[in-house]
Amino acid sequence: MVKIAPSILSADFAKLGEEVKKLHNGGADIIHIDVMDGHYVPNITIGPMVVRAIRGYTDLPFDVHLMMDNPLDFVDAYIQAGASSITVHAEVLPHLHRALHYIKSVGAKAAVALNPSTPLNVIEYVMEDLDMVLIMTVNPGFGGQKFIPAMMEKIRKLADIRNKSGLSFPIQVDGGIGPDNIKHIVQAGADIIVAGSAVFKSDDVGAAIRAMKKEALQ
Ligand code: DX5
Ligand code: ZN
Repeated sequence: MVKIAPSILSADFAKLGEEVKKLHNGGADIIHIDVMDGHYVPNITIGPMVVRAIRGYTDLPFDVHLMMDNPLDFVDAYIQAGASSITVHAEVLPHLHRALHYIKSVGAKAAVALNPSTPLNVIEYVMEDLDMVLIMTVNPGFGGQKFIPAMMEKIRKLADIRNKSGLSFPIQVDGGIGPDNIKHIVQAGADIIVAGSAVFKSDDVGAAIRAMKKEALQ
């Protein structure tokens, strides 16, 4: 069954706690938290103290997506703030294997994100160390962008490589996803869907989440 991980990047930042509670009550499976440092991506968003501030509004897992140049400097702070899973970008880590093991050593699930132009082979020798792979289907930095169609084949390829290797890490797909394309993305192999604008542009986030789950099953 596909899991929906709404991104709070598209939430009303003036009332983030209430927005998280709406996601909890609306049937979200995971809360996707987009952290941006203004260097790695041209936007600045959510620090550890904000994560701590919203932690008490739900017991859902906090999936923290670190779009930053020096993610390892902040892994501990986000975990202490309530993150249960940390996603780092392969593109900024020359020592990816060490980074993933560090994240696990401090008690979080370790995931890697790949930008649209990054080939799958960068994770070839760390696949067994991964708790999740995030396939970016937009260029990181903003919500509300269009899904990049070429990523469909990348999702299929990753699912095929994973299955042939006898591994079972979930494939998370992030960017430009809504009720009109979720079915094909899930059929291509996505297990967890991140959606920001598709969820928050509706005035009923629960209905938006339910609609996406229903479409995914068609
Ligand atoms: C983009 C973020 C995504 C984004 C998704 O850098 O990683 O999680 O918030 O937003 P939508 O669903 O609106 O594309
Ligand atoms: Zn994200």
